[in-house]
Amino acid sequence: MATFFEEESHTFSEYLLVPGYSSADNVAANVSLKTPLVRFARGEEPQITLNVPMVSAIMQSVSGPKLAVALAQQGGLSFIYGSQSIADEAAMVREVKSYKAGFVVSDSTLTPEMTLDDVVELLGRTGHSTMPVTEDGTPHGRLCGIVTSRDYRLSRDPRDRRVREFMTPFDKLVVADDATSLKAANDLIWDKKLNALPIVGAGRRLVALVFRKDYDSHKSQPNELLDQHKRYLVGAGINTRDYAERVSALVEAGADVLCIDSSEGYSEWQRRTLAWVRARYGTSMRVGAGNVVDAEGFRFLADSGADFVKVGIGGGSICITREQKGIGRGQASALIDVCRARDEYFDETGTYVPVCSDGGIVYDYHMTLALAMGADFMMLGRYFARFDESPTNRVSVNGQYMKEYWGEGSARARNWQRYDLGGDKKSLSFVEGVDSYVPYAGPLKEGVEGSLLKVKSTMCNCGALDLPELREKAKITLVSSTSLVEGGAHDVVLKDANQQVSINFR
Ligand code: XMP
Repeated sequence: MATFFEEESHTFSEYLLVPGYSSADNVAANVSLKTPLVRFARGEEPQITLNVPMVSAIMQSVSGPKLAVALAQQGGLSFIYGSQSIADEAAMVREVKSYKAGFVVSDSTLTPEMTLDDVVELLGRTGHSTMPVTEDGTPHGRLCGIVTSRDYRLSRDPRDRRVREFMTPFDKLVVADDATSLKAANDLIWDKKLNALPIVGAGRRLVALVFRKDYDSHKSQPNELLDQHKRYLVGAGINTRDYAERVSALVEAGADVLCIDSSEGYSEWQRRTLAWVRARYGTSMRVGAGNVVDAEGFRFLADSGADFVKVGIGGGSICITREQKGIGRGQASALIDVCRARDEYFDETGTYVPVCSDGGIVYDYHMTLALAMGADFMMLGRYFARFDESPTNRVSVNGQYMKEYWGEGSARARNWQRYDLGGDKKSLSFVEGVDSYVPYAGPLKEGVEGSLLKVKSTMCNCGALDLPELREKAKITLVSSTSLVEGGAHDVVLKDANQQVSINFR
């Protein structure tokens, strides 16, 4: 006879936190969000600790090098997506590890033969008005000049005007060589009254840009997540097929931690992959595994050596696994069950294996709930896809800026390894995800700061100054569908119809 779970499964929106006593010390500035990323033995310190409990999803539309740097600056960590060639993934890891704060690799590059029309299109797509012009249009090509909004007038100039006719040419630019320090670059920017300074290497090759507006933000990154050489920490996704070659390349590129990316992790394939990495690298390379949705799955992965265990099947915003295959579990119920198993495992074995809640976070308060229910940290896809730093295009849809966001199981990503069940098949048999838009939400820094301020504020309401205290003190209640209505603006006519949307997504 099949096993029936006694309770129906629930998701975050069905719960609320009931406030506890807040002492005078319970203010957001006193709250710590530090949390372990990888397993550790009782009495020992974890090898990697996050400064904020957020990691970005292992997805093409989320975790590229730019987002990885922006998130590490805020104290979280990205897992560079594995659904690309080994060489490309390793190159992205290398890019993060070699990132020099303040030196920006342009994502808005032109060629001299492009037109004003192309400039306008690029501006709309990236939102960046400073555009280097290189011979081949690549970010590290030979620099020919720069276009900024001061170089053209949209009301006057014909749209087919060539970039070479109106750009500020190389010989009129102030540039610095690639040995220049950030401090020297900033001094030059101030002395020469520049907005951007191109850093140029041998053969006039463009290396990076340093921007005046970034100066202040580079001075204060109190939470940034750095390794012992002051480089940003970065993770990378792997699969259970080509791990022998992929892991070696990622380790060599400098990845700090790995994660097996799979829709269903309670499998022999994950056990073998974990065993291989452990045999080859010992504890010098840490690997997370998943996804599972119950205690049994957790135990299996913990016993197999997973350094953290990811929870969640079918709850992601772009996921259709539940509809396609009928597998999964409400994210909150899955998380509660697995966190209980983690605590029992710790009591029994003395080893703490952190739990990551993956997918299904929509509102900021869902984060606080996930943490209160026991998650050590959260993996977020939709949330990060909305920011400037995600790798996808910003597009205007019905007059509103959106970012593209697609699932790894969609026809667009074709990440068959994530849905692999062994055998000879090497393609996606059927889709398990969709291709979509999410409302554009500006720079990651502002978004993350805003969300975490809400998390900290709620923690204070619960009388908690750190995550273990939140777990201990949280009082969590299920809500009826009628009281859900009571929780939003109700029985009033909103003056601005967009208000509810902006409340939901801010
Ligand atoms: P959110 O809700 O943060 O979820 O957007 C991100 C997580 O969703 C998972 N993921 C998928 N699941 N089909 C699925 O069933 C897909 O195409 C897909 N793509 C990503 C993944 O766990 C991610 O972290």
